[in-house]
Amino acid sequence: MIWTLARTRTETSVMDKTHLVDEITGHRRMRRNRKADWTRRLVQENRLTVDDLIWPIFIVPGTGIVDPIAAMPGVNRMSIDKAVEAVKEAAGLGIPAIATFPDIEMELRDETGSNSLVANNLINQATSAIKKAVSNIGIITDVALDPFTSHGHDGILRDGIIVNDETVDQIVRAAVMQADAGADIIAPSEMMDGRIGAIRRGLDAAGHQDVGIMSYATKFSSGFYGPYREAINTSGLLKGDKNSYYISPANGTEAVRDAALDVEEGADMLMVKPGIAYLDICWRIKEAFGLPVFAYQVSGEYTQIKAAAMNGWIDGDRIMMETLLCFKRAGCDGILSYFAVDVAKKLAKNG
Ligand code: PBG
Repeated sequence: MIWTLARTRTETSVMDKTHLVDEITGHRRMRRNRKADWTRRLVQENRLTVDDLIWPIFIVPGTGIVDPIAAMPGVNRMSIDKAVEAVKEAAGLGIPAIATFPDIEMELRDETGSNSLVANNLINQATSAIKKAVSNIGIITDVALDPFTSHGHDGILRDGIIVNDETVDQIVRAAVMQADAGADIIAPSEMMDGRIGAIRRGLDAAGHQDVGIMSYATKFSSGFYGPYREAINTSGLLKGDKNSYYISPANGTEAVRDAALDVEEGADMLMVKPGIAYLDICWRIKEAFGLPVFAYQVSGEYTQIKAAAMNGWIDGDRIMMETLLCFKRAGCDGILSYFAVDVAKKLAKNG
């Protein structure tokens, strides 16, 4: 029994406690650095802080409305007055930015999403109200047409095709109006070719040199968006799928190339969406471009965690924190998450 064999090395014949494992590992032991809380803290490579969080919220018309979204337990659609209160709280917790999505009346939705070009539409009203009432929080707005179209697609639909260039012309105009209303960052999620460069030119021509662009650079055609489509009531409208403009989940190199074009066109920040199933893409585009990279932990990811936690099958809080930390490890500078306020509160408590 070699591993219990004691050998004498010194004259004083101290028992040599070298174990077979020491011989196998060459005396290296990974667990030494993990042995106590203090050393684990000392060697921790990544940390999640409140500064990493972007909070997506849903806006509805009216006043005094806080309307729970069935498929996203804990998430509400809010009228502007209520959203202002909620965003005040978020800013108080130190959350650096919000991302707004409108759920507009069905009567206002049409083939081309024309309500996106109404200067005081719901999303722009929300921006100016929040800007007026809350300081020190960034407002990120999307210019995709899906909340405004009668078919739920992100662009203009003509003869069964989502037309690229006409859509770009429209979203540039919408982006300028969003900036006029006070948006700090435009985040186009509709994946049309050439949109980043076109929006940059449009913003600059209108004097909005300081308004940034966070490109939804790699947006995949994903089943994880289901609950969001319920939240803004597009799931019943959507005809077909978005495969002709979103990236296939099978393609990583294509995603990097798409992001490269956005970088060339002037994106200030890049986003990967969905998040947890696409950490390889986060890592690749962070390594490739060195721009700030954000992951969007989308509605389906949120709902999976919530639903399992509500059934008592997983520890929801623990997995919420774990997933967000893993985005940091994967190279992300921040995360858009419906958990943002919960996380900010938890971080503040743990201080
Ligand atoms: C569409 C859009 C989507 C999301 C935000 N804007 C995807 C879609 O409906 O196809 C998804 C957000 C989420 O799932 O949390 N422009």
